[in-house]
Parts: sequence; C-alpha cells; structure tokens
Amino acid sequence: MSRSKLRLGFLRGIWYKNEFVTAQRKFRLGILGSGKGSNAAAIADACASGEIPGEVVLVVSDVENAGILERARARGLEAFHIPPGKFRAKLDETAEACFIQALQRAGVDLVVLAGFMRILQGGFLRAFANRVVNIHPALLPAFPGLEAWKQALDYGVKVTGVTVHFVDQGIDTGAIVAQETVPVLPGDTPETLHARIQEVERKIYPASIAALARGEVRVQGRQTVWKPV
Ligand code: GRF
Repeated sequence: MSRSKLRLGFLRGIWYKNEFVTAQRKFRLGILGSGKGSNAAAIADACASGEIPGEVVLVVSDVENAGILERARARGLEAFHIPPGKFRAKLDETAEACFIQALQRAGVDLVVLAGFMRILQGGFLRAFANRVVNIHPALLPAFPGLEAWKQALDYGVKVTGVTVHFVDQGIDTGAIVAQETVPVLPGDTPETLHARIQEVERKIYPASIAALARGEVRVQGRQTVWKPV
C-alpha cells in the first residue's frame, strides 16, 4: 500500500489495499506483546464492551509462555507464539516474514504493540505503513527505551506519564497520538511508579485505539489532529 492511499481522516474508516474500510466492517486489531498482557487484556475488554468499535483478531508473542497469550486465550482470542529467531532485540528475517504473514492473513487494520520487546524494522513497517502503534511508559521524547519508569525515577523528575504513538524506524520516535501525566510521589519505588503508570495505560490505550478505529485521528507529519468533540 502506498502512503498516499492511507488517510486516517475524519471519516469513519481508512484506506486499506485500495479499499475504504468503513464502520460496517469491524476494525481489526492485531496485538503483539512479550509480557504479562495487561494492556492487551484492557484492549480486548474495551472491544468486548463496545468502547472500541473493533475486535482483536490475533495476539502474537515472541515469548512462548508469555502471560499475554494466556490472557488472550482466556478471552477466547486467537493467540500464538512465533519464535523471534537468532537476534536478541529484533526479529530475524524469517521471523519477521512469519509475523507479517500472520497479521496480513488475519486482515488487521492496526497493529498494536503492547509490551512487545523487539524493534520492528523497515520490512515490517512498510507492510503496515502508518498502521502500527505503541504505548510507552513515559512522556516522550523524555526517557525512550527500556524501563522508562526507572529512568524517570533515577533522573528525579516530579512528573512522568504515558505516551501512545505511531511506530516509525526510530526508538519511540513516531508521531504522538496521546499523552497523560503521572506524578512521581515521595517514596515511589520503580514498582509503585510503574504500577500507577500502568493504571493510566489501561485507560489511554483503549481510548486512543477507539479514536483511531472511528477515524477521528488524522496524521499530519509529526502531528496528530484529533477530531474536535
Ligand atoms: C507497559 O508498561 C508498556 O508501557 C510497555 O511495556 C509494558 C507492557 O505491560 N511498553 P503489559 O504486558 O501490557 O502488562
């Protein structure tokens, strides 16, 4: 799909493979994660309750026994493991092709990264151009990368937060969809701060995905513009 075909416009749908995907067809989400899956569970529950006008059609993990797979299966969702291959921080060529194929076969409209611990590269991002989002546990551009809550605590900031963003070739550098602050409290440990950040994640991620599914978020270069309510 060329970039010119994709419009996350103020319309109830998006262009996908020369076809305008409208509200009649449920917005299809493919979730990738490596961890316990609290975000994936919140997103699946928001689909089930109707908060997100969409459905989770696939959950894939690079970690065989990840909690995210268990939580997805407990909700009756299709969920499986794809071995990531020989690298530690990215997918190898074979694995990348398997991930792309699984998501394309499932016909996903949006790829949702929910604690997916591997960097996605050009081949994957071209296959799902402008259709991959991530949640980061800090207010980007501050504290990109791993254990952002710990970075924030170590730095001594008084406020950190959560960022939902599109995924580009950089690390946590794509256009920002939504952000919310979380205060750092006296006596916070990495665990208590991360727990409060995750509470916010479980609200802001479903709300952002709902807006994307309704076509209420338009991307203009680095900016995203939300339809006024
Ligand atoms: C979240 O804190 C998210 O911000 C980060 O990875 C964590 C995933 O947690 N990208 P979970 O697996 O969704 O519980």
